[in-house]
Amino acid sequence: MMSKPRIGVGVVGFGWMGQAHSRSVRRLAGIFPGEPYYIELVACSDTDPGRREQAVSDFGFARGEADWHSLAEDPDIDVVFITTPNALHVELVEAFAAADKHVFCEKPVGGTPDQTARAELAARKAGVISAVGYNYRWAPMVQEAKRLIDDGALGSITNYRGRFFSTYGADPSGLLTWRYLVDEGGYGVSSDLLSHSVDLGLYLLGPITRVVGTTATFIPERPLPSAGAVSHYGHGRPGDPTGAVTNEDYVGMLVEFDNGVRGSFESSRTMVGPESQMAFEVYGTEGALAWNLERMNELQLYLRSDGRYAGYRTIFGGERFPYHGNFVPGNANGIGFEDLVLIEDLELMRSIAAKRPFQPGFEDAVRYVSVQDALLRSAASGAWETVKTVRSQ
Ligand SMILES: NC(=O)c1ccc[n+]([C@@H]2O[C@H](COP(=O)([O-])OP(=O)(O)OC[C@H]3O[C@@H](n4cnc5c(N)ncnc54)[C@H](O)[C@@H]3O)[C@@H](O)[C@H]2O)c1
Repeated sequence: MMSKPRIGVGVVGFGWMGQAHSRSVRRLAGIFPGEPYYIELVACSDTDPGRREQAVSDFGFARGEADWHSLAEDPDIDVVFITTPNALHVELVEAFAAADKHVFCEKPVGGTPDQTARAELAARKAGVISAVGYNYRWAPMVQEAKRLIDDGALGSITNYRGRFFSTYGADPSGLLTWRYLVDEGGYGVSSDLLSHSVDLGLYLLGPITRVVGTTATFIPERPLPSAGAVSHYGHGRPGDPTGAVTNEDYVGMLVEFDNGVRGSFESSRTMVGPESQMAFEVYGTEGALAWNLERMNELQLYLRSDGRYAGYRTIFGGERFPYHGNFVPGNANGIGFEDLVLIEDLELMRSIAAKRPFQPGFEDAVRYVSVQDALLRSAASGAWETVKTVRSQ
């Protein structure tokens, strides 16, 4: 085994996604055996001492660090997973790319379009592999949807509807974590959730040329968290001191794709009802399809050629589709959220081992924030706005 090339991993930010990626790279070889590399967990940085300890004692990192700078100087680290709050992303990407490390950064890469463009420039100039955590692209049923669209099974596509409704902020007692603060998270739900939804639209149908949209903040104050690392699923108590939410809870927009498709996107973190409804619908002249993260192992397909029996059918995920059979055999035995993270990390490791670019990379991150930039301009102007690629000089 040791004759295989080694890929040394560093992680900065050991919360939800830092832990999810660490678990994924740890179990990768057991699920996809025979890969032409082996992975070592070299160092994990988090400002929270308990999380650093956990990284070493439970996850097997060789060391934990309070200050991430030492990871940039470590020759044993080849790739760094940046899984901190968004506003820290760009500084980390710039430092690690300059130190010749490959960089995986969680979406949306930075908290503002300008920060994303800076990160893209830093990675491009350094010539390192960049990767962005748009993990829903890797869902086998999403990939099947793309194959159906590309193969023309739906005819010519005319309409698209994308949405990401999460209930994590629906309760006003939900804590004022970094996601609600422009200085720490950057923009609100347009950075956090809409980014995933629009990325899938861009992946499935190509560029968006113009948008008209609106934003709103429905819960303007939230309880302050106590000191230490807390989850955005955490809650305060009645009477706790509160602070102001400084970014948006909701976004909605109409869009035009370059290929003529008309579409709409909506995203909310405060809606009551949908728990994690990251969903899309595609309509063409010969058929339609629909996918929803809440039922991620199912694809709904309608084909006009079915004639009098036309109607939506449910296609279950399973070993007949790529990746799925490595997790569980047969069909309709489901895979889960973290399995998508594992597939994403598998493909990143393959790119690093083969020294080839990874998609989605920071160029794809820029594609989304260019749409976000037009949406924010439109919310201010009230008019249709053209999508212009956001670049850093
Ligand atoms: N792809 C997905 O499905 C998905 C899901 C959730 C979050 N995310 C993204 O992942 C990133 C992290 O989100 P999360 O939910 O894991 O956040 P989190 O709040 O759970 O974890 C963030 C961690 O970063 C640590 N941290 C803060 N400042 C630090 C510093 N200076 N140095 C080292 N560590 C520091 C915190 O202590 C915490 O442990 C965000 O960019 C978010 O948009 C992606």
